[in-house]
Amino acid sequence: MDSGYKVAPGGRLLGRLRVPGDKSISHRAIMLGAIADGVTRVTGFLEGADALSTRNVFRAMGVRIEGPDDGRVTIHGVGRDGLRPPAGPLDCGNAGTAMRLLMGLLAGQSFATELVGDETLMRRPMRRVADPLARMGARVETDGDCPPVRLSPSAGLAGIEFRLPVASAQLKSALLLAGLYANGRTTIIEPAPTRDHTERMLGGFGVRVERDGARVSIDGGQRLTGCAIDVPADISSAAFFLVGASIAPGADVVLEHVGMNPTRTGIIDVLRLMGADITVLAESEVGGEPVADLRVRSAPLSGIDVPEELVPLAIDEFPAIFIAAACARGRTRVSGAAELRVKESDRIATMAEGLRVLGVSAEPTPDGMVIEGRPDGAAFSGGRVEAHGDHRIAMSFAMAALRAGGPIAIADTENVATSFPGFVQLAAGAGLGIVETGAADS
Ligand code: S3P
Repeated sequence: MDSGYKVAPGGRLLGRLRVPGDKSISHRAIMLGAIADGVTRVTGFLEGADALSTRNVFRAMGVRIEGPDDGRVTIHGVGRDGLRPPAGPLDCGNAGTAMRLLMGLLAGQSFATELVGDETLMRRPMRRVADPLARMGARVETDGDCPPVRLSPSAGLAGIEFRLPVASAQLKSALLLAGLYANGRTTIIEPAPTRDHTERMLGGFGVRVERDGARVSIDGGQRLTGCAIDVPADISSAAFFLVGASIAPGADVVLEHVGMNPTRTGIIDVLRLMGADITVLAESEVGGEPVADLRVRSAPLSGIDVPEELVPLAIDEFPAIFIAAACARGRTRVSGAAELRVKESDRIATMAEGLRVLGVSAEPTPDGMVIEGRPDGAAFSGGRVEAHGDHRIAMSFAMAALRAGGPIAIADTENVATSFPGFVQLAAGAGLGIVETGAADS
């Protein structure tokens, strides 16, 4: 609760930037590398607290993992049945992805585990994973809907066919990982496409995953072979600069080597629908994931009704999208995004509260928000907003200062380090007037 930001109004963003490695891919690289046969070498790994929590969890289960050292991690895989019982509870920190994917991976182990996390994570829903795992034969206990999660050895998992009740890549991934340890075939049916990093990466480790429309299937018993993984820059971290450079007059930024997996690029589609000037350059592919450089220049934005099919493809970017909406001409409506209420914070409530503090007309709805933009001059007043420990809320309000009439103070920003270590330095270097503050002056 003690660290905060103070961001001076105005400024513009310029230059070439490389944001840190993709969080989703970094978690998965550790997990799959740990249960593979042989060595997995990772470059571009996210040196943020969330990915380090996952590394620590596997170290606690006897996996030798070197690094990160300048983004390089070496994982000495122990094979699918080589994990060892940990001495105590496994601490996932702030990382929902770590906890949910681990539930799937650990459900089929021959030893018991307990998964815990920080204050925020201990309030997040886990039954969505525990229930289908129980149907596969797992012995899993939660405290109501929440952690701690306790897994005990079961008589064996059996593959199931399961239709996801929510569009969730974490849930899909947990069941695919459990499916690796199950007898027979596990098939998951998605209500809408979600990020497919698990499927792609399993393929890189030599595991067959079949995709047929909305159905994804995996046969149990397959082994993984260690491989090389180049983690692209995280489009969810690039998103703050895509929005910042769009709303700041005179901005011109190139974001380098950004992951462009089509299940993650909803932010580009949403911003382009609003009129953003984003050019995709130097497209290539690294380790089964598309990457590109993104050039973004300031542009007048217009309010839109965000198409609901884009919501799962931009799910982590809504705090930033709300900032763009506040600077757009006209009204922006977001719906079909109730999942935002169960992220690191209730992102509908937290953003609406902060936007109102900054003088923006923002009407929260059960599954979204309606925002009236202020396209001319200062879209935000100065003021003091609360990040409520949510990294993406903190970084989104930092970008709002580019179009504010006075300084913006942001409280409770510590968790920015979970996904974006070095945010302040990178943003300040590009032209944002941001400094870190302590509790007394935040
Ligand atoms: C993630 C999936 C998404 C996303 C989260 C990372 C992943 O969560 O919000 O930041 O790595 O699979 P849900 O699966 O809950 O939508």
